[in-house]
Amino acid sequence: MSTDAAGRRRIVFGSAGAAAAAALGVPLIDMHAAAAATPPKADVHIELEAVPDQIALRPGPPTRVWRYRVKLLRGDARALEAPAGTYLGPIIRVRRGQRARIDLINRLPESTIVHWHGLHVPDDMDGHPRFAIAPGERYVYDFTVANRAGSYWFHPHPHGRTGKQVYFGLAGLFLVSDDEEDSLGLPSGAYDLPLVIQDRVFDADNQLAYLSEGVAPAAAGGRAERGTMGGGMMGGGGGMRMGGMGGMGRMMASMMGVLGDEILVNGRPGAHFDVAARPYRLRLLNACNTRTLKLAWNDDSPMTVIGTDGGLLAEPLQRSHVMLSPAERIDLWVDFARWRAGTALTLQSLAFEGGVDMGGMMGRSGLRDGASFPVATLRVAGDAPRIRETLPERLSSLPPPDTSEALHADRPKVFTLTMGMMRWGINGRGFDMTHASELETVKLGTSEVWEFRNDDTASMMGMVMPHAIHVHGLHFRVIAREVSSRFRHEHDTVRAGLVDEGWKDTVLVMPGERVRILLHFADHPGLFLYHCHMLEHEDSGLMRNYRVEA
Ligand code: C2O
Ligand code: CU
Repeated sequence: MSTDAAGRRRIVFGSAGAAAAAALGVPLIDMHAAAAATPPKADVHIELEAVPDQIALRPGPPTRVWRYRVKLLRGDARALEAPAGTYLGPIIRVRRGQRARIDLINRLPESTIVHWHGLHVPDDMDGHPRFAIAPGERYVYDFTVANRAGSYWFHPHPHGRTGKQVYFGLAGLFLVSDDEEDSLGLPSGAYDLPLVIQDRVFDADNQLAYLSEGVAPAAAGGRAERGTMGGGMMGGGGGMRMGGMGGMGRMMASMMGVLGDEILVNGRPGAHFDVAARPYRLRLLNACNTRTLKLAWNDDSPMTVIGTDGGLLAEPLQRSHVMLSPAERIDLWVDFARWRAGTALTLQSLAFEGGVDMGGMMGRSGLRDGASFPVATLRVAGDAPRIRETLPERLSSLPPPDTSEALHADRPKVFTLTMGMMRWGINGRGFDMTHASELETVKLGTSEVWEFRNDDTASMMGMVMPHAIHVHGLHFRVIAREVSSRFRHEHDTVRAGLVDEGWKDTVLVMPGERVRILLHFADHPGLFLYHCHMLEHEDSGLMRNYRVEA
């Protein structure tokens, strides 16, 4: 075992030892028990093993997936919920101020790293791709949870492979609670229901295929196959399994985005929930690779929004529908006592214009971006007593965005989303592992206004589509949107569902739109990412670093 310079938290197993252990089927962890020792001050210690596995998701053969296998080594049993019958998860629950130690162990046949989406952590705890670990290695996270109560999540972030690893199943929720939230008495326990929404394509054998790659069957004992799963090597029966997705469609999808035609909630298809006639908190996360959701109740009942990416809003808001681009979260408060007992409500995604359009080259997925489809059914129990609880009028204190101290408030830094030579970029530049330009360098303790422009139609050769801009390491405020008249029609189909109030870490930028955000670099110096969270865009260049200088 050695600790290397690239990451002091990265523990590299001796490669000969690791290979021998893999060959013998000896769990690596036993050879390195010291690495798993809980630091005395950790409130929670979790082991997160990224493993190939298989799960029965649909009638017929089980689906090969990649998932996190977990163990709680220290802490309250409620800190970890690992539901059965899903590839997704676990749900990690912590309180603000707690110290969390999490050991990621990579048992995949390729490198990986975990990003804590929305958490304010030092840069070496953030899961930047420069810290990706090879098969058999361990990465030790150890941080104090500084965030407000809210719905955060985690997923892999290795360079160029995030889309694939998330698609095959790796993602989970990271829910933070705090005293402010407790004082509101919001629905909790079984009445605090996360809905993680994803889209996938299954082949005739119930297998997931991602562009030209599939999940190789796990060797006996659930151990990772050695070697890589390069183009077209699908394991099992071999051969291409993407049905109608030919070379051109695949190339388009690797750039424009992978869309599925089957909707899964919490890692299961055909989502159905029995709910009591009482208030619930629904935590919605769009964990699709590329698909944007326009969520509404089938009977047009208004939605009550209580939180966004960075926790609770100042006060509840009513919306007829809510837009949720990849990685965004919305917390709803829903009183199911409003509906008659036995009512089957459908949470659906409504049609909108301006989505990712691949001009018919969509492979097997017939469900276009911006199509309407059902997401989940919620049946209101017929027998339970009705429980009335009211929602407080004030939820949290949320100062209005104040740009008076911000640098560039009137002339924001401009980040134009570009496409050239069939590559995505930001201001014409693709991803560079360790570089940040002068524009991308900021000072610790300062605030800036940035403007993301999705209106460079010339460079995009007409391929204008929405993007979901995510900034690591902080939460920002959305302070302005402006849409060119050419795309007003598309924008009109989503505008009423945008929730720009509150703290955000991901924001939908529609075609023809410019979005201004206010950022404060409060906590940590170092190198952080900002990128589009449509994972195929991110993996093919719509990602850059910014550097916070002390
Ligand atoms: Cu959730 Cu850099 O991503
Ligand atoms: Cu994008």
